[in-house]
Amino acid sequence: MPAFSLLPRPAELATGAYDGLVLTPSTRIDADSAARGTEAWLRAELGAATGLPFPRGDGESAQIRLSVDAAAGLGTEGYRLIVDGEGALIVGNDPAGVFYGAQTLRQLLPPDAFRRAPLAGAAHWTLPSVRVTDRPRFAWRGCMLDVARHFMPKHGLLRFIDLLAMHKLNVLHLHLTDDQGWRVEIKRYPRLTEVGAWRAESQVGAGQPPVYDGRPHGGFYTQDDIREIVAYAAARHITVVPEIDIPGHSQAAIAAYPELGEGDPVDVGRDWGVIETVLNVSDTTLDFYRGVFDEVLELFPSRYVCVGGDECPKKQWRTSETAQRRIREEGLADEDELQSWFIRQFDAYLAERGRRLLGWDEILEGGLAEGATVLSWRGTEGGIAAARAGHDVVMCPTATSYLDYRQSADPDEPVPVGTVLTTADVYTADPVPPELAASGADRVLGAQVNVWTEHMDTPRSVDFMVFPRLSAFAETVWTRDTREYAEFWPRLRDHLRRLDALGVEYRPPAGPLPWQRRPGVAGWSPRS
Ligand code: ACM
Repeated sequence: MPAFSLLPRPAELATGAYDGLVLTPSTRIDADSAARGTEAWLRAELGAATGLPFPRGDGESAQIRLSVDAAAGLGTEGYRLIVDGEGALIVGNDPAGVFYGAQTLRQLLPPDAFRRAPLAGAAHWTLPSVRVTDRPRFAWRGCMLDVARHFMPKHGLLRFIDLLAMHKLNVLHLHLTDDQGWRVEIKRYPRLTEVGAWRAESQVGAGQPPVYDGRPHGGFYTQDDIREIVAYAAARHITVVPEIDIPGHSQAAIAAYPELGEGDPVDVGRDWGVIETVLNVSDTTLDFYRGVFDEVLELFPSRYVCVGGDECPKKQWRTSETAQRRIREEGLADEDELQSWFIRQFDAYLAERGRRLLGWDEILEGGLAEGATVLSWRGTEGGIAAARAGHDVVMCPTATSYLDYRQSADPDEPVPVGTVLTTADVYTADPVPPELAASGADRVLGAQVNVWTEHMDTPRSVDFMVFPRLSAFAETVWTRDTREYAEFWPRLRDHLRRLDALGVEYRPPAGPLPWQRRPGVAGWSPRS
C-alpha cells in the first residue's frame, strides 16, 4: 500500500501516473446539487487550512469536482476518488459517499490541512495522483457519548462531531439523562433542567468510602442547541440518536418531579454506580415520559430512539403497591416482566410514530419488545440471543468497546477503571461475534464505542480516553479486509499528526503525560 496513511484504510487504493493537483488561488470546486453540502464543507475546511478561496467552478472549469451517481455501483455510502491530469473527481453513491470521498481527499494532504489557519511559508499544497474506491462495512458506525455524568459544552460537542466525521463514523448516540443529570430542555417539564441539570457535587473516582469534590456541576442543551447540534451532525452525515434512560438511571428526573419515583424525595445523584432509585410504573409516569418523548422526537429525526433500559434494580418495585398491582393486573410473572412491560409501552409509542426502539441488552430480560434493536454491552451474549431471535443488534461489549476502561495496566492511567483495553485490543476486535458467522451476522447493524464519563470531567479528559482508540475502532467498522495491528500502527502514528494539528489531546503511545495523570484517585476493577 502506498504511504498515504489513510485512516480508516480504504478498500482499494492505487497511486496514479500523474503529477498530482497543485492547489492554487484559482483552484475551483464544482458540485452537483446533491453534493453541495460537501462542497461547502470542503471549501470551509480546506480554505481555512490553506488560505485559498476555492471559488465555485462551473463543470469543466473546476479542478475539484463532486458528484452523486447512484448508478456507478459504488455501494451505500461508497465513493470513488480519482486525482489525475484533469484534477480531482469524487463520485459518491449518495451524498454521504461524496462526503467520505472529501474526507479522504483531505487526508491526502499533509497534516497541516487539519489546521484552522495556514502557517506562514507552508503555501504549497499538492494532492497526489491516486485512485481510491471505497465503501463501509457496516451501516452503524457509532459512538455513544455520556453527557449526563459530565456535561459536554456545546462547542465541545460540535468539535466531537467533527472528529467522528473525520473517522467516517455516522452515529452519535447521546446519553442525555441519568441519575446524575438531565441535559435536554423539555418545555412542558421545565424542572427537568431547572433542578435536574445540576448536582451539588460529584464523587471523585470510585473509591470507598466515596470522596466528593464539593463543587457544583451542571449544564444542559436548550432545544435550539439541540436543533443546531442535530443539523451540524446531519451536514456531516452523522445521525444523532437520543437516549432518555428509563426506568432506571432516572434519579435526576425524580429529583425534579418526585411523583415519578417510588420513595422519598431525592437529590440529583452525586455518586457513581447503580442506584436503587427507579421510576414508578403508574399511568401518570408513563404519560409524563410520553410527553418527554413527544418533544424528543420533534428535536431528533433519528429513526432509532434509545430508551436505555439498563441496570434497573428491582428492589423498590418488590415492595411498591403500584408495581405489584401492575404485575397482577397485567398478568406478569415478576419484576423482570414488569420492566419488559414498561419498555413495551414505549416500543408501541415509538412504532406508532414511525420510529424504532433501541435499548441496552437488559431489555431482553422478561421478553424483548417486538420492534426493539439491542445494544449488546454485557458481553456479546445479548447480541447473539437478540440476532437469533430476529432482532437487529448493535455490538458494544464492555471488553472491546468501553472507552472509559483503562488504556494500559500501568497505575499511572488516570482513574483506572474496568479491564485493560488498549488501542491494539480495540483494533483487533471484530464487531461480529463468531457465533453469528454462520447465521445471524446480517442482524448486526454495526458497532459503537461507549464513552461513559463518570471519570472524565472535562473535554480534555474525554480526548485522552477516546483517542486514539476511536481511530482504531473506526477501521473495524469501516474496513472489510483483515486487520493487522502491525500494518495499522505506522498509519496510526501518521494519523496522530492530524490529531495534533486539530488539537486533540489523545493518550500518547508511551503513556499519559504528567498532567494527564490523576494521582491518588481510585478506580475499580471487575470482581474476578
Ligand atoms: C451500561 O453500561 N450501563 C449500558
